[in-house]
Amino acid sequence: MTTKEKLLELFETNRDVFFSGEDIAQKLAISRTAVWKAVKALQSEGYAIIAVTNRGYCLSDETDILSAQGIYKYLRPEIQDMEICVMDIVESTNTLVREQANAGKPEGYIVLANEQTNGRGRLNRSFFSPKDTGIYMSLLLRPENYSGQQAVRITTMAAVAMCEAIEAVSDEKAEIKWVNDIFVRGKKVCGILTEGSFNLENGLLDYAVLGVGINIYQPETGFPEEINSTAGAVFQQRQGDVKNRLVSEFLNRFYGYYSAASQTDYVEQYRNRSLVIGKSVTLTSFNEARNAFVLGIDEECHLLVRYPDGTEDRCSSGEISIRF
Ligand code: BTN
Repeated sequence: MTTKEKLLELFETNRDVFFSGEDIAQKLAISRTAVWKAVKALQSEGYAIIAVTNRGYCLSDETDILSAQGIYKYLRPEIQDMEICVMDIVESTNTLVREQANAGKPEGYIVLANEQTNGRGRLNRSFFSPKDTGIYMSLLLRPENYSGQQAVRITTMAAVAMCEAIEAVSDEKAEIKWVNDIFVRGKKVCGILTEGSFNLENGLLDYAVLGVGINIYQPETGFPEEINSTAGAVFQQRQGDVKNRLVSEFLNRFYGYYSAASQTDYVEQYRNRSLVIGKSVTLTSFNEARNAFVLGIDEECHLLVRYPDGTEDRCSSGEISIRF
């Protein structure tokens, strides 16, 4: 760890606590000049470090900047060994993590970015990923014995975990539009894209990259016209230390479901948060759009629908729009 990273760890684990320059120098075994330089470097990155004569330095609770140190401090001990990599700007965190997966990185590697220049969504769409107002992250998973059918669990577990995380850090209620969209106050605030690589010999998942994009705040210049009526943000005003907390709350909950003996415990939660059960919808699958009534969601999180001609179906993929 660099001096700056060590200092950030000290500040992040002791928000709102003052440390004298001498105290910091002793704790980190560095000179007072090195402390001063590291404080300046963090301040120039936007950290609200307050300096008070006779009291020293403290990281104010107002700072809301993603960092590995800020995430680790809230993570459950069982997942403290994750490798967390925070970057300022990337093309796509999913692309980056897939490259690392192919090069043999183990499960638990996660890349988070403040901005993506080529964020990808489902169905070959782009995912709007502007600077600093969202969190864009991709987690590498290597589940054992997951067939293609079971792979959908990763997305749906993540959707439940993200709803719970949003509710833990805000006063909002989070709901799921099958299969992977999270809504707050009637607007989409989060999308999930899980990409996988299968072993052709046994048909099992070799690895999965779980990509999650969340709009934390309204982008400064607003959302692009094509998503302006559907997209929203979790918060209406700036918060202190919410990004790192949200990520940790998500990871703590996601791993709770992912490592549970019975991997279907979360399904009831998924159903309870569903925006589509009991609704008339248009279901688009393989370029064909059909009106349908949603009867329910089964144990594998497949959608159970009835078409106007009375026939029933079980869908594992597709895009839904709710008809009012
Ligand atoms: C969707 O709504 O269609 C899914 C959007 C998924 C976006 C996330 S942001 C982090 C990760 N990197 C990407 O390029 N995409 C996913």
